[in-house]
Amino acid sequence: MQDPRLLELRRRLPQLRLLTDPADLAYYGQDWTRRWTPAPLAVALPIDIAEVQGVVCWANEQHVAIVPSGGRTGLSGGAVAANGELVLSLTRMQRVLEFDPIDRLLRVQPGLTLEAAQTAAREHGLIYPVDLGSRGSCSIGGNIATNAGGLHVIRHGNTRSWIAGLKVVTGAGELLDLNRGLVKDASGYDLRQLMIGSEGTLGVVVEALLQLTAPLPASQVMLLGLPGVDALMQVFDLFRARVSLQAFEFFSDRGLQHVLANGARRALDGEHAYYVVVEFDAALAAERQAGEEAFGLAQQQGWVDDGVVAQSAAQAAALWRLREGITEALAPRGPYKTDVSVRIGALPEFVREVQALLRDGFPQLEVVWFGHIGDGNLHINLLPPESMGSEAFGNLRGEVTSLLAAALSRHGGSISAEHGIGLVKREYLSSSRSGAEIALMRGIRASFDPNGVLNPGKLFTAD
Ligand code: MLT
Ligand code: ZN
Repeated sequence: MQDPRLLELRRRLPQLRLLTDPADLAYYGQDWTRRWTPAPLAVALPIDIAEVQGVVCWANEQHVAIVPSGGRTGLSGGAVAANGELVLSLTRMQRVLEFDPIDRLLRVQPGLTLEAAQTAAREHGLIYPVDLGSRGSCSIGGNIATNAGGLHVIRHGNTRSWIAGLKVVTGAGELLDLNRGLVKDASGYDLRQLMIGSEGTLGVVVEALLQLTAPLPASQVMLLGLPGVDALMQVFDLFRARVSLQAFEFFSDRGLQHVLANGARRALDGEHAYYVVVEFDAALAAERQAGEEAFGLAQQQGWVDDGVVAQSAAQAAALWRLREGITEALAPRGPYKTDVSVRIGALPEFVREVQALLRDGFPQLEVVWFGHIGDGNLHINLLPPESMGSEAFGNLRGEVTSLLAAALSRHGGSISAEHGIGLVKREYLSSSRSGAEIALMRGIRASFDPNGVLNPGKLFTAD
């Protein structure tokens, strides 16, 4: 550890765990995008808030960039360290600190995995309702940094709705204790909400107060096969009016083929353009009946060709696997994963338009559609042919994103619904945000992090 900046860090914080082994740098320097070659200066693994503050103060004085880091399951490069940054990994700060039964709050450290937070909530007879496929690996701090969405936003909203308080260390090294679990606070700007979704550019989350809630009632899960995109919206509307939805997720037939090839069991005969996993409250016989009536009505209207109702928890899990297994099934093909949103009402036109643009402009790419259609959130995954080199695919990625960005601008949508901007989409921020908004965002960043030490190069172009 010859670097004088690291020697100084060691002198200031003798107890701080610091890694400089090449294997550790490679491991901590990348996220699930796997697109950049990791090249951090070192990895710091603080054990408490004081160490985080010490590292941030050192970074300001030594002019070292910091990449705050959680489970690194991100898909936009937000946690990538490829330019000699110090990775500030919060993974050793992963304790549940306190449960408050009156306010139903769980005070946790940022490195706790989402799954561990969900388990801790259940131990108190409650739930933390944010849920993502990467629950076993992603961390609460990372979820907060990206305002993670996931599978039940339609019922519960994003991470933003479930953070009752936050302790953060700003880029200037100050410790802020934001909102403190208050239900009501009309004392000015809500800095807690500003932190949520800021992708590590304003502060490092060092503690969070998670709002818990009562468990959902027993549910029923259906898989429906649909003939087209208009039917998706009609079925959504029909079910929404008759049952209390817990989830409404979709995927295309291409998505299904990949999951089946990866070992999942087929649940419906025949081929359908789209499939929907619907989950809804079904503790009462009347609720189950309402779901079956909606299914019947959708069939009569020709909006659903076929469907199956899970008869057991195991069958429900098998139906969910058809949706949740797509990411893993596509991974070996190195897909370009996009994550866009439009208003729900704009979906059919947007989907048709983008499908035509991709078919005409990029016939060599296989396109797999899936996502949280009930939230207007589409994951359009593009797979290169086996013969295509990485440089050629890299160029196509840029062209596809420009095309998508233009279509999103026309439809008033967003280039990132839930994965964040990070490195992957920073050139396209202006397709979703006006120049005036971006200028304000940069100004806010400068207020929290005057020397630009926190995650420079992420979210915005050229800091
Ligand atoms: C999902 O909805 O499955 C996640 O956002 C991950 C992905 O897009 O692959
Ligand atoms: Zn998603």
